[in-house]
Amino acid sequence: MSILIINIKELIQVRDQNTLKVSGKDMQNLPTIKNAFLFIKNGQISNFGSMESCKNIVADKTIDAADKLVLPTWCDSHTHIVYAGNRELEFVDRINGLSYTEIANRGGGILNSAKTLQNTSEEDLFNQSIERVKSIIKLGTGALEIKSGYGLTVESELKMLRVIKRIKKEFPIEIKATFLGAHAFPEAYLNNKKGYVDLIINEMLPKIAEEHLADFIDVFCEEGYFSLEDTEAILSAGKQYGLIPKIHVNQFNAFGGVAMSVKHKALSVDHLEELTLEDIIALKGSKTMPVALPSCSFFLSIPYTPARQIINSGLPLALATDYNPGSTPSGNMNFVLSTACIKMKMTPEEAINAATLNGAYAMGISKDYGSITIGKKANLIITKPIPSYNYLPYSFGENNIETVIINGTVIA
Ligand code: NIG
Ligand code: FE
Repeated sequence: MSILIINIKELIQVRDQNTLKVSGKDMQNLPTIKNAFLFIKNGQISNFGSMESCKNIVADKTIDAADKLVLPTWCDSHTHIVYAGNRELEFVDRINGLSYTEIANRGGGILNSAKTLQNTSEEDLFNQSIERVKSIIKLGTGALEIKSGYGLTVESELKMLRVIKRIKKEFPIEIKATFLGAHAFPEAYLNNKKGYVDLIINEMLPKIAEEHLADFIDVFCEEGYFSLEDTEAILSAGKQYGLIPKIHVNQFNAFGGVAMSVKHKALSVDHLEELTLEDIIALKGSKTMPVALPSCSFFLSIPYTPARQIINSGLPLALATDYNPGSTPSGNMNFVLSTACIKMKMTPEEAINAATLNGAYAMGISKDYGSITIGKKANLIITKPIPSYNYLPYSFGENNIETVIINGTVIA
């Protein structure tokens, strides 16, 4: 099956094969072609260029994209989209004055979601989760990372990861799985934290590796959660099984987790709402991608990741949703784009680079996803008629997406 898209008002994020991420000042550069065509064959981007050069192409199907933009689908590199139930009561508690930490200390928060998930069957968990995946694909997400971390027992962490494996088979989008057993200390281990770290290392990891259930390993490195020492022990153990780190760090406190993650060759460090000069220095010259999650800052009313400081220091930055029941009950990358521009003062060019190519890099898939490049997967968004790409973040809360193409097939 081949598709020819013609009369594209502007084809966005056109790159050569060698650009796997963009950093610093280069993030301001968003290469485009006006009045363009794009040819899809065998699920891949086979050719593209200006309409004048669109000659002798025979396709099974032609789409006229006059007045519309075409861009790569969003690459959401940080989600907890597999969860059971919701936490809207805690949302109301926060409106009435309790903080996220106060709620967590009362047994709410992650432990609340863990209790619900432990009492949910694998089938039910799968069914609840696929509805969320269906809706974010319609919103333009074409590659996705999903974490475990609401199981917190051997059995329930495996249940979550098996559900992620089933989701990978169910959908044509690219999905990466991350083991986040170290998301919170379960109630039974509150006075025996070492016991839970040992459980992760000695019981969970070997089983996960045996069933090939995870691509990456994550730890919530935070005061009241996992210390630097716990995090290092878990990352070192994960390394024995080939699991690359992607770390929750600096959400509420900065205490050296970024440098430690870089030392362990983390693919990404995520959150970074609190960031020190030492953290910036540690990231410079590394291959670790900083990831900002502005919908989380929006929902919890916590500081936004200092995107300007990160980019102005010459570093790259990716954007992701953090879709989860507690801090970000939204998987809408279009809202992330708007929030990044409005609240973090990223330019539309920087935000689009961060939500596509750099997001793909943060999942280790930017060779095949995240830009309009010959040979990459044909995962594309066709917008409704809109004036320019600036309009995407500008019209916050609006859905500007008309068509989503995954692996060369129109699916939404
Ligand atoms: O990334 N910070 C840790 N984990 C999630 C929130 C988890 C929850 O509240 O359920 C996050 O924000
Ligand atoms: Fe998260």
